Amino acid sequence: MTQQKIAIVTGANNGIGFETAIGMAEAGYHTVLACRNEAKGEAAMVEMQLRVPDGQFTLLLLDLSDFASVRDFAAAFRSQFEHLDVLINNAGVLDYSGRKAGNGYELQLMTNHLGHMLLTSLLLDLMPDTPESRIVSLSSVAHKGAKIYFDDIHCENQEGVAAYGQSKLACLLFGDELNRRLQAAGKKILSLSVHPGGSDSGLFDDMSRLQYYTMKVLAPFIIHDNASAAKPALHAALSANVKGGDFYGPQGFQELRGKVGPAKRDASAQDPSVAARFWDVSEGLIGEPFKLN
Ligand SMILES: NC(=O)c1ccc[n+]([C@@H]2O[C@H](COP(=O)([O-])OP(=O)(O)OC[C@H]3O[C@@H](n4cnc5c(N)ncnc54)[C@H](OP(=O)(O)O)[C@@H]3O)[C@@H](O)[C@H]2O)c1
Repeated sequence: MTQQKIAIVTGANNGIGFETAIGMAEAGYHTVLACRNEAKGEAAMVEMQLRVPDGQFTLLLLDLSDFASVRDFAAAFRSQFEHLDVLINNAGVLDYSGRKAGNGYELQLMTNHLGHMLLTSLLLDLMPDTPESRIVSLSSVAHKGAKIYFDDIHCENQEGVAAYGQSKLACLLFGDELNRRLQAAGKKILSLSVHPGGSDSGLFDDMSRLQYYTMKVLAPFIIHDNASAAKPALHAALSANVKGGDFYGPQGFQELRGKVGPAKRDASAQDPSVAARFWDVSEGLIGEPFKLN
């Protein structure tokens, strides 16, 4: 009997993660919805079950802005499941106001990158060593022009947009560096990165009202819907024709919409020495080495 495949999608209750979870369930994966809000997660699960009547879904609580919650999630997952096939590090927050997580770290670095890095480290040993095992990191076109502020990692002295860009560059550097380290360790598991283009999700709810309504008016003309925006992650998770380290996104205007294909990397995401340095910084911020085995 073939073993049931298991996937985790973080931030599965809304937007792109919601459609990604549907896609994984349609592909036959028992899909774990890793959400921070129980009521929202349950409501999403009810809707998913209607969309995929044969789908198997489990809700487990995860707040990526809190390392203790990440550890609790990993323990809860391990108590219910013996293996993990696909981890889609989708959840994300966009905040231009300089908000901090409970531990004082910049909120987007913590949620979008560090929480996911710890989560991956805590679950990697459950992944079978085959190319069908995938870790998918969600970056953004916002990685373009961004940089890692090694001397100001919590962006105390940067404009609001800089911290989001840093966090999404961080996701891409993490995906790449993880793949290099998996390969160096002789593992067949693949780490890939994607960006969704643009979609009218909940991501922009906290923008200034001017930015928010401008976005709402322009959305139908320049970006695509959440189901289309989920396709790069589903491609990275499910296609047989991918390699570790690949980066996928939409191919249309400004890479904001369209069919899935290879995404363009900014120069900031092409230097392995920056990725390796940032990996070490991230381990320091998490407070423990990443567990490759
Ligand atoms: N939409 C776009 O145009 C766009 C463009 C580029 C990249 N992206 C990336 O795509 C990914 C999905 O975003 P989206 O557009 O679908 O936005 P969304 O609709 O706002 O969904 C984000 C999801 O992440 C969850 N989340 C936020 N903070 C969390 C935390 N601390 N712990 C656990 N979950 C948390 C949210 O939960 P709550 O519902 O509880 O807030 C929600 O489920 C993000 O990584 C984003 O950066 C999106």
